Amino acid sequence: MNPNTIILYNSKTGFTQKYAGLLAEELGCTALPLSAAPAGLSEFSTVVFGSRLHAGVIDGWKKARKLLRSRGAKRLVVFATGAMPNEAEDKIRQVWEQNLTPAERDAIPHFYLQAGLCREKLGGVDKAMLSVASWAIGRKKDKTPEDQAFLDAISRSYDISDPKYIQPLAACLRELG
Ligand SMILES: Cc1cc2nc3c(=O)[nH]c(=O)nc-3n(C[C@H](O)[C@H](O)[C@H](O)COP(=O)(O)O)c2cc1C
Repeated sequence: MNPNTIILYNSKTGFTQKYAGLLAEELGCTALPLSAAPAGLSEFSTVVFGSRLHAGVIDGWKKARKLLRSRGAKRLVVFATGAMPNEAEDKIRQVWEQNLTPAERDAIPHFYLQAGLCREKLGGVDKAMLSVASWAIGRKKDKTPEDQAFLDAISRSYDISDPKYIQPLAACLRELG
């Protein structure tokens, strides 16, 4: 058991929860939904926050950052799951630039884990957001191959997650101790 690390996550359709569970198993630590975070986090040397990407934003990160600090979290590590493949390096770099301040990018180890899309488990707002995106791109006259790929990607459910993708994050957490 690793009592020094705790993993807290937000998950709507299960991908982030699955990765958090795999990570907890691998490290022998606890994974809990953020909503069930202990009142005091100062006993942990590392607090990991995981969530999905949502229109380029790490869902819940701004609130989580405040909450975790107010509960005494010391070192933070962040991971985000999404529908993009790990190879989309430029887009992933943009995500970190838009979600973490330069100081945070230096201080907080951060990882992207490709996951997928589960349309069946989405709520109404999310479904509506995907429909609006499809509509906006669908009506473009000169669609680029990228536009078409994006349209295809959001029109179906798929799972490109794999337990092996937690390894770089697990190695970082082992090193932090
Ligand atoms: C409305 C909406 C917006 C999304 N935006 C992004 C995005 O900007 N980048 C990305 O890679 N994935 C995006 N996704 C896909 C989710 O991030 C992905 O399915 C995630 O792994 C879901 O995590 P969860 O199962 O833990 O909720 C989006 C999904 C929805 C429904």
